[in-house]
Amino acid sequence: MTHDPYSHALQLTADGQLRHFLTLDGLGKDLLTDILDTADSFIEVGERTIKNVPLLRGRTVVNLFFESSTRTRSTFELAAKRLSADVLNLDISTSATSKGESLSDTLLNLEAMASDMFVVRHSQSGAPHFIAESVTPGVAIINAGDGRHAHPTQAMLDMLTIRQRKHNFEGLKVAIVGDILHSRVARSQIRALNALGAAEIRVIAPATLLPSDIEALGCRVEYNMVEGMRDLDVVIMLRLQRERMAGALLPSEREFYRLYGLSQDKLALANPGCLVMHPGPINRGVEIESAVADGPQSVILNQVTNGIAVRMAVMSMAMSGQVEERSRLRQESGAL
Ligand code: NCD
Repeated sequence: MTHDPYSHALQLTADGQLRHFLTLDGLGKDLLTDILDTADSFIEVGERTIKNVPLLRGRTVVNLFFESSTRTRSTFELAAKRLSADVLNLDISTSATSKGESLSDTLLNLEAMASDMFVVRHSQSGAPHFIAESVTPGVAIINAGDGRHAHPTQAMLDMLTIRQRKHNFEGLKVAIVGDILHSRVARSQIRALNALGAAEIRVIAPATLLPSDIEALGCRVEYNMVEGMRDLDVVIMLRLQRERMAGALLPSEREFYRLYGLSQDKLALANPGCLVMHPGPINRGVEIESAVADGPQSVILNQVTNGIAVRMAVMSMAMSGQVEERSRLRQESGAL
């Protein structure tokens, strides 16, 4: 994974504000901190009896999920509704895509309905970028997970969960365990942790589940989980992404669990108070023991709750970036 200056330019306005949210690649500490602070301000909205703010009132947000999702799709929907937007959930399995309509044609039709934002999940890496390149000016594209490439809102809700408990990133040792190779979540988390200044990002996995560029991304590699658990402040477990595995990369699930599953015994090797995280869906007894997933160090359900506030932050920031950019362009063309 190389730094992609093109997507960097695509997702930011001339003055460095978000207008799409496609990747964390190229985004600096200030912008990421701004997203976390904005999300923090939305947490209180979720605790009110009336959980709405009018920031996207009158706007239309389309959830366009070409891949299955439970948490991401429902928290994007709730986030848009809490911002007072009108929300359209397009069920791709019953849409005209299954009648042979191309992605571009589906989008043209949705744009004709005056949509303001598309939240896109797709099995092809780069699909949200492709859409952002061709979409009508003023329409924001938010990446809800593309192939193995990126899942930037997931990484930001993880960062918010870590910051709530550990207060800052300096000095933190964080491990990501399991199927790093197929995980868009891991790639975005590594970007975020690097940008926010974590002391160490450790990946713990068998060699068959590690991408070849992992050290170049700034990670320390550990093949032995018993060694790898030492001095950890946060451990992030990942699901085995079997839907993206081409061949047999693992001996057996039982063997994987024995070597890389997070049991209470292995967790006891980390620092006291080490946070246990997982983006979900969890596979109990495959990558994590039930007693750990449900235990006192687990913040897995807090991650889900934080997903709403982070998605509210990203959607409202991208929409205001689009609005400000349009008014700047209008002023510039008026001045000519
Ligand atoms: C992840 C995803 O879809 O990338 N889940 C999520 O968004 N919460 C991880 C996974 O599917 O294992």
